Amino acid sequence: MADSLHRLSGRYQAMNKRRGVLFGGSGLIGGSIIRYFSLKKRGTVDLRAPSSKKVSLKDCEAIQDYLLEVRPEFVINAAIANIIADPELACEINYFGALRIARAAAALKIPYVHLSSAATLPPGENLDEDQSVALAPHLSNYAKSKLMAEMTLNYMAHEHGLDHTCIRLSIVYGKRDNKIQGFHRLLFTIADESMPFLLTRPGVRHSYSNSHKLPYLIHYLLDNRAEFSGKTFNFVDPEPVELADLALTIRKHLGIGRPKKIFMPYWMARSGKRVLQATLRGLTKVGVKGALPPELMFLGAFYRTQTLSCARLQATGFTDPYPLETVYTRLPELIHHYLTRWSRQHLLNRYDRTLEFDLAVREDFTADPLKMFESVVTDASTPYAELKKCRTTEARETGAEPPQQSSP
Ligand SMILES: NC(=O)c1ccc[n+]([C@@H]2O[C@H](COP(=O)([O-])OP(=O)(O)OC[C@H]3O[C@@H](n4cnc5c(N)ncnc54)[C@H](OP(=O)(O)O)[C@@H]3O)[C@@H](O)[C@H]2O)c1
Repeated sequence: MADSLHRLSGRYQAMNKRRGVLFGGSGLIGGSIIRYFSLKKRGTVDLRAPSSKKVSLKDCEAIQDYLLEVRPEFVINAAIANIIADPELACEINYFGALRIARAAAALKIPYVHLSSAATLPPGENLDEDQSVALAPHLSNYAKSKLMAEMTLNYMAHEHGLDHTCIRLSIVYGKRDNKIQGFHRLLFTIADESMPFLLTRPGVRHSYSNSHKLPYLIHYLLDNRAEFSGKTFNFVDPEPVELADLALTIRKHLGIGRPKKIFMPYWMARSGKRVLQATLRGLTKVGVKGALPPELMFLGAFYRTQTLSCARLQATGFTDPYPLETVYTRLPELIHHYLTRWSRQHLLNRYDRTLEFDLAVREDFTADPLKMFESVVTDASTPYAELKKCRTTEARETGAEPPQQSSP
């Protein structure tokens, strides 16, 4: 009886779940959103996240067909082309892709949550949502495509009644960055001891965005459309962070000697970058392929302050779920998470074996695979009991299997 009630309530919940579609679910931001709705808010939202292989933002028809099939009540766009994508790809995915989703959302009359970037802003302090750089040919492909998407969505909100919310993120920190970009590239470079000096000026500060908190905002703004519709919000931690201080704090956590507290002047960093670029180009001629980290294309940003105001968001009814959490408070956890992962993937020059979670597994797998195989088949190869139980109950309900005789 209790089992049946539980199943019935599960089905009722499934029927009443709000359905949404997320593009870019395998990325840093998309992964956090999926995790939030599937673990923290389980049972409230049925979030579908097709991979780019299934529905590419380059394919207008695929987007329309998918949305028609799923009939979502909202759509979120966290998809983005590689930061160093050429003009065609950046335009196709970051701009036209966003536009295609917006046109579909406007037609279906559903809210569209669009993730944007501080790359659309100039340097400066306390920048608000009404500011942006001027659209011009010299902008990077990334900044240009993100800015054009923002501008077009605002136009569509006025002209075509698009119900969208644009969230501008600054430097994002959090787990699930498979590409090692932005803040995680800084962490990687320091952990790899490949940053001898500080590539910044004293006092240069930036805003940081916490990917762990972002889904709470998305959930809130989906529930409060009147407050958020047609608007752009900066989503950053209230306190900006000095780049040099952050780099030296990471160094301290890692207990290493680099980077030295010496500030490399911008002209020197820029010349160094050019020399490295030329060297790498030369090396390709003898069959060695190498590339500079993509973040170096934003080298100038390391030397300029850019901080975003969060006053507009603070004036809404949204409350920060973890007000004390900052990039500093999360450093120990993030360092452990990423160093374990990078060490295991042999990405770091300095391979720290103390970071291994389970040395026993490693030892057995490496030195005694037969022992591991025998122990797995003996202890851990039976079908999962819980799933088997569900399957049997379902089969009985649909009449595929006769009811079990009750024991005497
Ligand atoms: N990370 C940051 O520091 C940062 C800073 C500011 C703003 N943002 C913004 O946050 C958003 C998410 O960024 P992220 O860092 O999470 O990106 P990410 O980790 O690089 O992930 C990119 C996502 O886009 C998907 N994608 C790529 N090409 C696609 C296509 N043709 N069709 C459909 N999906 C495609 C990828 O899917 P596949 O894996 O299936 O290809 C992946 O899921 C972006 O709007 C970005 O501008 C990020």
